[in-house]
Amino acid sequence: MVSLIVAASENNVIGKDGKLPWRLKDDMQFFKKLTTSHVLIMGRKTFESLPKVLPNRVHIIVSRDKNYDVDDENCYVLNILDEAIDFARTFLGKEIFIIGGGTIYEQAIKKKVVKKIYLTRVKAILEGDTFFPEISPAEWKEVARYSYPQNENNQYPFDIIEYERID
Ligand SMILES: NC(=O)c1ccc[n+]([C@@H]2O[C@H](COP(=O)([O-])OP(=O)(O)OC[C@H]3O[C@@H](n4cnc5c(N)ncnc54)[C@H](OP(=O)(O)O)[C@@H]3O)[C@@H](O)[C@H]2O)c1
Repeated sequence: MVSLIVAASENNVIGKDGKLPWRLKDDMQFFKKLTTSHVLIMGRKTFESLPKVLPNRVHIIVSRDKNYDVDDENCYVLNILDEAIDFARTFLGKEIFIIGGGTIYEQAIKKKVVKKIYLTRVKAILEGDTFFPEISPAEWKEVARYSYPQNENNQYPFDIIEYERID
């Protein structure tokens, strides 16, 4: 199963200056629980925005730079997104999560192999430089929604919304 996981503000901002423009601890915990022991596909810039290689997850990094290399046994670099997805499928029994950033989401959301979106909708209108595309209601249906309040863990209130592709 190939899923896409993203957090976006109400105006679809996902990043600013190479970072996330919010601090949402409960969302980080959701991301960790959902993705641990599975396979992550990400763009080179998102990989470089991580504080470290995420424990217990295979990282597949997409870059057009044939010389780009990451010296870590859990990291693989591929030059073509479709080949990254095919390679991810070789890790049998693991789910595949596309974790961004903007350029990868833009391409992946159109791919029929991506069957599910986990969207954290941050309830704020924010400034940023990287965006998530609109989720077309003709192609995606909401199947679940969980609300989280603003509190000492979460800078803004947010909903985690699950969408499934309409075939
Ligand atoms: N809110 C969220 O859920 C979320 C999630 C992830 C990231 N982010 C944020 O998003 C921002 C980064 O996103 P971004 O759009 O700037 O960069 P990105 O998508 O993470 O990475 C872009 C890079 O990926 C490679 N790439 C993209 N498409 C490719 C393809 N078809 N084939 C081969 N390589 C390809 C290229 O690497 P090369 O230049 O090396 O060729 C490209 O420069 C940061 O601010 C980050 O914090 C937010």
